[in-house]
Amino acid sequence: MVEKFINKKIKDLILEEKEEIKKFLIEIFKDNSSYKNTVYTNPDLNECLLLYIENKLVGHISITKRIINYKNKQYLVGGIGDVAIDKEYREKGFGNKLMKEVNKILKEGNYDLGILFNHPKLDNFYSSCDWIPKDNGKIFATVNGILEDQMRTFLLPINLTEKDLEVWKNEDINIGNGSW
Ligand SMILES: CC(C)(COP(=O)(O)OP(=O)(O)OC[C@H]1O[C@@H](n2cnc3c(N)ncnc32)[C@H](O)[C@@H]1OP(=O)(O)O)[C@@H](O)C(=O)NCCC(=O)NCCS
Repeated sequence: MVEKFINKKIKDLILEEKEEIKKFLIEIFKDNSSYKNTVYTNPDLNECLLLYIENKLVGHISITKRIINYKNKQYLVGGIGDVAIDKEYREKGFGNKLMKEVNKILKEGNYDLGILFNHPKLDNFYSSCDWIPKDNGKIFATVNGILEDQMRTFLLPINLTEKDLEVWKNEDINIGNGSW
């Protein structure tokens, strides 16, 4: 079984690749009826990590790159989204491998931290990928002009002091316009 991880900037994707990714994601998130209208529309979407097995797209994660200002400090944040593994390939460790690759990309890209929003049933999955839960405070984003609580949040601390980490773990923080 030939596994291939490919990391691409969104601006370098050709039309066919983008269409293949969108089709893959819409199938995975088909329970969310509005998903197809918003997939790959986020203007801060910077890059994606793709997993191909025998030349078939079976895994995807996107990274939104955003500078967030909070209490007179600037943080370069990697917003992780659309974490997806083809149904046929789940529970075999591929999700974990893909997340670990993303962790490397964020570290090598000099991000200060990673942030993702998840369903609580996936807490164990994200903990097993070395991310930590934000157990206090909330993350807000402005979505369609309305300030929204982003609910369950996990963090990947990279270039954070202990004090910064306490801030991110405990305080209410607004990540600006749009979520991921
Ligand atoms: C979430 C997802 C990416 C996990 O991929 P995967 O390849 O199945 O994950 P892994 O095989 O690496 O699993 C790692 C661990 O997480 C657990 N896990 C994975 N999916 C889970 C789920 N839906 N519910 C509970 N636990 C789950 C696995 O049991 C495994 O635990 P273990 O190591 O103790 O056995 C995949 O289930 C998926 O694409 N789901 C649909 C899309 C989705 O919900 N994305 C996440 C949005 S936040």
